Amino acid sequence: MKSRELIEMTERHSAQNYAPLEVVIRSGQNAWVEDVDGQRYIDCLSAYSAVNFGHQNPRITRAAHAQLDALTIISRAFYADTYAYLCKELCELSGKDKVLVMNSGAEAVETALKAARKWGYEEKGIPDNKAEIIVFADNFHGRTTTIVGFSTSPLSQKGFGPFAAGFRAVPFGDAAAVEAAITSNTAGVLFEPILGEGGIIIPPDGFIRSLREICSRRKVLMVADEIQTGLCRTGKLFACQHEDVEPDMYILGKSLGAGIVPISAVLANADVMRVFTPGTHGSTFGGNPFACAVAREVVALIREEKPQERAAELGAHMLARLKAMRSKVVKEVRGRGMMIGVDIDPAAGTAKDFCKKIIHEGVLCKDTRMQTVRLAPPLTISRQDLDLALDRIIGVFERA
Ligand SMILES: Cc1ncc(COP(=O)(O)O)c(C=O)c1O
Repeated sequence: MKSRELIEMTERHSAQNYAPLEVVIRSGQNAWVEDVDGQRYIDCLSAYSAVNFGHQNPRITRAAHAQLDALTIISRAFYADTYAYLCKELCELSGKDKVLVMNSGAEAVETALKAARKWGYEEKGIPDNKAEIIVFADNFHGRTTTIVGFSTSPLSQKGFGPFAAGFRAVPFGDAAAVEAAITSNTAGVLFEPILGEGGIIIPPDGFIRSLREICSRRKVLMVADEIQTGLCRTGKLFACQHEDVEPDMYILGKSLGAGIVPISAVLANADVMRVFTPGTHGSTFGGNPFACAVAREVVALIREEKPQERAAELGAHMLARLKAMRSKVVKEVRGRGMMIGVDIDPAAGTAKDFCKKIIHEGVLCKDTRMQTVRLAPPLTISRQDLDLALDRIIGVFERA
């Protein structure tokens, strides 16, 4: 079936309305994908950073195949060998003592919120049901009812209330606003080191360090949602490392499953994680052997291949080329590593209009917010393919 027919069929039967961008993809290999009509594209979206290590990365698919032939799930009354190894290896990678493995990003965020609240009651003596979490304007942490309840996007929220209490949103990048919002009932501050869905917004220099200082001084947990920024995307293993900061909790997802399996994780030290006692948290598929085998290979790949170095180098090249373009429609280019946003002048059209033109040239990308084109190729892309993608992207912006 052709793309057009498949889009119509999907829209007839699927309740998820993605407002798709005209092409239906069938296969992928590293940074390249092919649609059902035989057209090839360079993937500059990477499933929103879920395929940091490329489509069909041979060492990861090999690990997945091997685990399929061994065991995919076991009743949660038992540990599996891959789970034991993954827990140890993720702790070693992150420098934290303990990990809780879940499935989706949103589920890991919920897990971190539960941990922060319970820690607040048990460690800080916050009165029952009064724990508060500080979040940021334009956050994106997922789609569960608790999480959309503290979103500041009316589209994410409207029609889905009532929402859980106990969240306060302050402007992103504003350390003084965080300080002012903290009360004796504040258990944690949940933040993205760079706003992803919020428009690739990089906070002012020093913000993450200030957040660390405030959280330590006021005895509040610093909870970094590194689901999009983590695992090398920004040129460091974790984006917090750009300011040499270690948060109290890391939340990981997306690329931990290498685009093969949904798997997420919350990492923290034992003084926080001890709040989870038997029976207080869990998930049928959380930490299943198949997902763990894939994530183990991701951890091994990171250790051996150091993709963050590649992300830093190729990201700097991307940023330099995009900043040097002569375009009347581009207002700003910003990014860190291979997580880049290009702002379009509203007078020239929306970001989505430009994404459609770029896709037409053979490069997959997507808008975020009305005016930002997001570019995030797999970190494994070759320099030659990256330059080809940039030629095509820059061509669209310069001709407009
Ligand atoms: C920063 C961040 N947190 C959480 C999520 C939610 O992850 P998931 O879609 O796997 O639930 C996302 C997804 O885009 C994200 O970018």
